[in-house]
Amino acid sequence: MDQNTAVTAGTRIRPGTESHLKQLTDIYNHYVTGTPVTFDIEPVTVEERRQWLAGHPATGRHRLLVAEEAGIVLGYATSGPFRAKQAYETSVETSVYLAPEHTGRGLGGMLYRALFEALATEDVHRAYAGITQPNEASMRLHERFGFRPAGVLHEVGRKFGTYWDVAWLEKPLRQGPTGAPDVV
Ligand SMILES: CC(C)(COP(=O)(O)OP(=O)(O)OC[C@H]1O[C@@H](n2cnc3c(N)ncnc32)[C@H](O)[C@@H]1OP(=O)(O)O)[C@@H](O)C(=O)NCCC(=O)NCCS
Repeated sequence: MDQNTAVTAGTRIRPGTESHLKQLTDIYNHYVTGTPVTFDIEPVTVEERRQWLAGHPATGRHRLLVAEEAGIVLGYATSGPFRAKQAYETSVETSVYLAPEHTGRGLGGMLYRALFEALATEDVHRAYAGITQPNEASMRLHERFGFRPAGVLHEVGRKFGTYWDVAWLEKPLRQGPTGAPDVV
């Protein structure tokens, strides 16, 4: 299926702003409290999310893109720091979270397409995604966007009294400094 066909014409993708903050927080907390998709265990507050928002400006490596329809946030995609030490700065960790009633109709792909278009002109060399297993929809989405398996961390997190595996996937983004494609 063309992933755009299931998305209505009124869906807009744009950088996340303060006006989205409450809805973004609610979407994330749905997955915090009810699923192992994220390893946060306690719901995040809007205030905590405000700091997170500030770390995702409209330019640069670390982006936040929101899908909205008539002022309703349907979901979002982010790129954020992979690890703090400086040499990691050309790598980002990406993720997508849709409001539960808006999964399964191609919005994840729409958001990722916009995110990777935005990152194409930034100094980003690799994108990584850590996917708690199992998550078939997320695995397929990432594979469709060129992510390839980089390894599985077994029982790396405990949530709801269960240890969970996380599959890490890797996507090359950028050509080398000479303009020649990187060997991947
Ligand atoms: C994962 C997620 C972002 C995918 O976005 P989406 O718009 O729902 O996905 P799509 O409708 O584009 O489907 C993506 C692929 O998964 C498949 N898929 C969708 N729902 C599925 C399901 N419940 N079980 C198995 N496969 C599924 C689709 O057929 C499609 O496969 P294809 O690429 O081979 O055609 C979205 O479902 C979501 O937000 N899930 C909850 C949060 C989450 O898990 N985020 C990812 C954290 S790593």
